Amino acid sequence: MSYKGRATVNANLRSAEMRITVIGSGYVGLVVGACLADSGNEVVCADVDERKVEKLWKGEVPFFEPGLDDIVLRNVQQRRLRFTTDVERAIRDGGVIFIAVGTPQGDDGSAEMRYVDAVADTIGQALGGGENVLIDGLKIVLTKSTVPVGTSDRIREIIGRNAKQPFVVCSNPEFLKEGDAVNDFLKPDRIVIGTPETPEGTVARRALHELFEPFNRTHDRMLFMDVRSSELTKYAANALLATKITFMNDLANLAERVGADIERVRVGIGSDPRIGYQFLFPGTGYGGSCFPKDVKALLHTSEVSGHPLRLLAAVDAVNKDQKRILLRKIIAHYATEDLTGKTFAVWGLAFKPRTDDMRDAPSIDLITGLLAAGAKVRAYDPEAAANARYYFEDRITYCDGKDACLEGSDALVIVTEWSAFRSPDFDLIHRTLKAPVIFDGRNLYEPERVAARGFTYYAIGRGVALPV
Ligand SMILES: NC(=O)c1ccc[n+]([C@@H]2O[C@H](COP(=O)([O-])OP(=O)(O)OC[C@H]3O[C@@H](n4cnc5c(N)ncnc54)[C@H](O)[C@@H]3O)[C@@H](O)[C@H]2O)c1
Repeated sequence: MSYKGRATVNANLRSAEMRITVIGSGYVGLVVGACLADSGNEVVCADVDERKVEKLWKGEVPFFEPGLDDIVLRNVQQRRLRFTTDVERAIRDGGVIFIAVGTPQGDDGSAEMRYVDAVADTIGQALGGGENVLIDGLKIVLTKSTVPVGTSDRIREIIGRNAKQPFVVCSNPEFLKEGDAVNDFLKPDRIVIGTPETPEGTVARRALHELFEPFNRTHDRMLFMDVRSSELTKYAANALLATKITFMNDLANLAERVGADIERVRVGIGSDPRIGYQFLFPGTGYGGSCFPKDVKALLHTSEVSGHPLRLLAAVDAVNKDQKRILLRKIIAHYATEDLTGKTFAVWGLAFKPRTDDMRDAPSIDLITGLLAAGAKVRAYDPEAAANARYYFEDRITYCDGKDACLEGSDALVIVTEWSAFRSPDFDLIHRTLKAPVIFDGRNLYEPERVAARGFTYYAIGRGVALPV
């Protein structure tokens, strides 16, 4: 590869001296940037959103992620973490470039690539000449974003249109969970890195091994592989987890029909170590910023590549149905699809606890359905109300607390399992609701105990069953 133009060659690979650029300061990019700065690297986070960057400079994290604000503030104060809207300058300043922009669902289900493409183009411009920080003569570009198989080739092609300095494109999918993201990044189960089998790939493997070493203390968690396998690994993990959840949801609906209790079945099967207890909780369907769009994107990839994943297509369809399960139970309870005059207290809006993320949250399907049926909604979520306004605007009432939410409501509907909802004051709920009815989408309570307190209690796969 030809090497033209001036460059600062950063040949010293000690992680303390690595200069890192993270493009996209969202849930993933900010965690990556802050945690890499905290382990001693000099990090610049670039984002096109000026308001976000302004807030970050003040140490304010523009979304809710436990523990992240402390790390951001500490590293800004210690000058290891900077923020900028000048993406090209940031690319010049980093030896390792993480692409962490969004890859939302496109119209046909495929991953929307325009943000990734735009970043690739800017990297190409930055490498088109002038000063650039390089590692062993190379700019190392990593895709953190979840991207379809073949994207690294696409990025390499886009960068190559303008680049005059050497670069290598590798895959490094992120497995963090919102709500526990910092811990997941600092103590990962595995660090998957896809590199090409080229001399540049060898340089990248060595540099990345050094970069991720601090997160690898007890044993080696780094899994090096080819780029396409790495890209597919991320989708495979999310698709398998979505399948596990969906299997349990489907089974829960069957359990109701046949008079079994899904919670007992869950414990019965989870005790088998080949199955395990994780991701066996039935609920209102998976949502969030990853599973729905990643399942759709993998399905799209499978279809265009001539091997449609039939099992995954069923998972997608069953999940769509499950997101209406609470609405179906409500309609069955009142024996009418017209809910005019009824008001529902909704506990939980975020797609899961410990986040303010509303992307593809099951609460959207529920509340949209309730409003369409003529009902009114009073909702409470400890963190997600501001983001929920984007979806519901002033069409629902946002309450300050879970008890205030109950006032004037006909029934309580639980959508997100925030821990504050686990041991409520049942007497207060009974006194405040117009009728003692709970629709619990998260199986938070024991049906017998809630029934003994005088409630009609609908749960998922237990409690009062949907009429056959
Ligand atoms: N959120 C998760 O839990 C999670 C977990 C693992 C992987 N991922 C993947 O990581 C990627 C990012 O997800 P996220 O949730 O952090 O997204 P996000 O929407 O929270 O953040 C993306 C950021 O990129 C910025 N951006 C867009 N175009 C840009 C450009 N050209 N230059 C600079 N900045 C730009 C946006 O302003 C935004 O701040 C996605 O591919 C997602 O699938 C997400």
